[in-house]
Amino acid sequence: MYIDTHCHLSKDDYDDISNVVKENRENGIDKMVISGCSKESIKEAMEYAREYDNIYVTIGYHPEEVDKVNKDDLLALDKLLGQGHKKIVGVGEIGLDFHYDKDKKNEQINLFEQQLKLAEKWDLPVVIHSRDATMETINCLKKFNVKGIIHCFGGSLETAKIYIKMGFKLGIGGIITFKNSNLYKVVQEIGIENIVLETDSPYLTPEPYRGKKNSSKYIPLIAQRISEVCQVSVDEVGRVTSNNAKTLFDLN
Ligand code: NI
Repeated sequence: MYIDTHCHLSKDDYDDISNVVKENRENGIDKMVISGCSKESIKEAMEYAREYDNIYVTIGYHPEEVDKVNKDDLLALDKLLGQGHKKIVGVGEIGLDFHYDKDKKNEQINLFEQQLKLAEKWDLPVVIHSRDATMETINCLKKFNVKGIIHCFGGSLETAKIYIKMGFKLGIGGIITFKNSNLYKVVQEIGIENIVLETDSPYLTPEPYRGKKNSSKYIPLIAQRISEVCQVSVDEVGRVTSNNAKTLFDLN
């Protein structure tokens, strides 16, 4: 019924991956898209995609990897994306994070644009990480013919509308359940047609489990909150957001 469009699945965080996959299935999570966003996590995500029929991956280098990624790594990514692997459904998460790393702005923009170029080349959707960098993110995206997901969207209604107009869906996760978050107001305005569900697990666990380790199995809590704020049934939230994800990532 649901698709988690963005999670991180690693032995570093979960003792028993097969049990996590099983629990997710039992909670109505039909498919998961793992974001492999470092050299190591790309390898691990690919392993799970091979092992489990309902796991897909997006691959790309996170802005925080900027110091660790060289020319050869980008060539390796290009090669991997070009193989036409059925389980590699997008490029990400890629983007800009000026929250911690303000000194590396130009390096980050360069890495981001090189990967946007690859997404355009292989005609794959992108999964965007943007933190304290809205203007710069929009400027970079405008240079390329790409569409995709703005992962963990937390901006204003105005920003949401700009991204939607550019052909993007907004990734909505646990934050919408937080009592101090106004994200629900944006979701109310833009509607479920413009969003996809995500957990970003193991991070950003929804209420009432905030602070504990997240997992795709908590997607129904996010769907429940969206159903309340948009005044549609949870089934409808599941159906529409899953369709959005399937269309974007070309899943069957
Ligand atoms: Ni993530």
